[in-house]
Amino acid sequence: MSHSAEPRPMTSGKCGPLSGEAQVPGDKSISHRALILGAMSVGQTRITGLLEGQDVLDTAKAMEAFGATVTRHGPGSWTVDGVGVGGFASPEGVIDCGNSGTGVRLIMGAVATTPITATFTGDASLSRRPMARVTDPIAEFGARITAREGGRLPITIEGAADPVPVTYRTPVASAQIKSAILLAGLNVPGETVVIESEPTRDHSERMLAGFGADIRAETTADGHVITLQGRPELRAQNVAVPRDPSSAAFPVAAALIVPGSEIRVPGVSRNPTRDGLYVTLLEMGADITFENPREEGGEPVADLLVRHAPLKGVTVPAERAASMIDEFPILSVIASYAQGTTVMNGVAELRVKESDRIDAMARGLEANGVKVEETKDSMTVHGTGSVPGGAQAVTHLDHRIAMSFMVLGLNAENAVGIDDAGPIMTSFPDFVPLMERLGASFG
Ligand code: S3P
Repeated sequence: MSHSAEPRPMTSGKCGPLSGEAQVPGDKSISHRALILGAMSVGQTRITGLLEGQDVLDTAKAMEAFGATVTRHGPGSWTVDGVGVGGFASPEGVIDCGNSGTGVRLIMGAVATTPITATFTGDASLSRRPMARVTDPIAEFGARITAREGGRLPITIEGAADPVPVTYRTPVASAQIKSAILLAGLNVPGETVVIESEPTRDHSERMLAGFGADIRAETTADGHVITLQGRPELRAQNVAVPRDPSSAAFPVAAALIVPGSEIRVPGVSRNPTRDGLYVTLLEMGADITFENPREEGGEPVADLLVRHAPLKGVTVPAERAASMIDEFPILSVIASYAQGTTVMNGVAELRVKESDRIDAMARGLEANGVKVEETKDSMTVHGTGSVPGGAQAVTHLDHRIAMSFMVLGLNAENAVGIDDAGPIMTSFPDFVPLMERLGASFG
């Protein structure tokens, strides 16, 4: 479903100390992958903790359109009856991936090596985003691609009838590109190899191994190399989706910036390929304790205990960018409340997310009295410990921009507004009530 409802403006104002437990939703990346791999397996996959955000619901609908049976049994509890590797059928209608770059890119990979034809579309934000980064490698398998000018959606894919294995070096650090290639490689005889310069989130590799694929990853002088043997018989699994560290970042940030706060965020994934924000926050002086570390659903998780503390500005090295790529908008909010300068390096990819996130954050922070500098691939925030506020930020159909400015308002001198809270539904449908239960004042 594309986001087409009327814009819903919202405001956020100074509040008292936040307290309580924040049960954030299931991980978005893992939720997409559980549905897709469930659909490509033989048997019934049971998923608990699935994120029921619009992005993931669109992927569930797409898997049905390709022939899998996807059933909701209760909150977060779903089953997928798969059609097996190579078992997808041509869908009757167009596949609308809404706002989701992960959904469309992974599904385009998954269908590229099966001889079916499918047309993909999305909302205004997704239709602006670059897709050649995925269609170029999947064309190497033998798929035929027709795209709108500039390689944009809508895109039609005719999957390869006789796919050939591919070795591909990703031009930018991107788990979506890597995952699209690996999913395409499933229905190919022989070895598919992806080489990335920096390791990116490894949920696809972990889950493919869990579903029975022969996959290995090694760090060599050449880079991070992932090798997949094609044509495995994937077997249905039980997947317990851990809570999303990228969603957890919003209540965590709120507790860090509102004096006197103390909150708990249970069961959050601590996958090292997703952990960059938490490493950075500890360097800034944040008071975060990781309690009860354990493994759930093949991923390391912990319960977070977060207390307000004075923070200082830091420099985030470019090598860390991939492990916190979705967290820079909220880090720039936290940095506004820190003392001193925070420099975020190696963040050029932020310009091609749901919005140009460097531009969206810089304009919105400046309007609210925060001094920001940007280059093509860096953002610098000059924190003074307090934020004047008083302005409405433009969210550009981007859920993380919307949530970031809602958090900015919680300790600002004057209320902060956003032009549209609608996009929050893509990844964190419960964001507003959850934050209000902690003590946030939204209007
Ligand atoms: C994702 C990968 C990242 C991230 C996105 C989810 C994934 O995108 O920004 O929200 O699930 O693979 P890129 O691979 O484009 O960096």
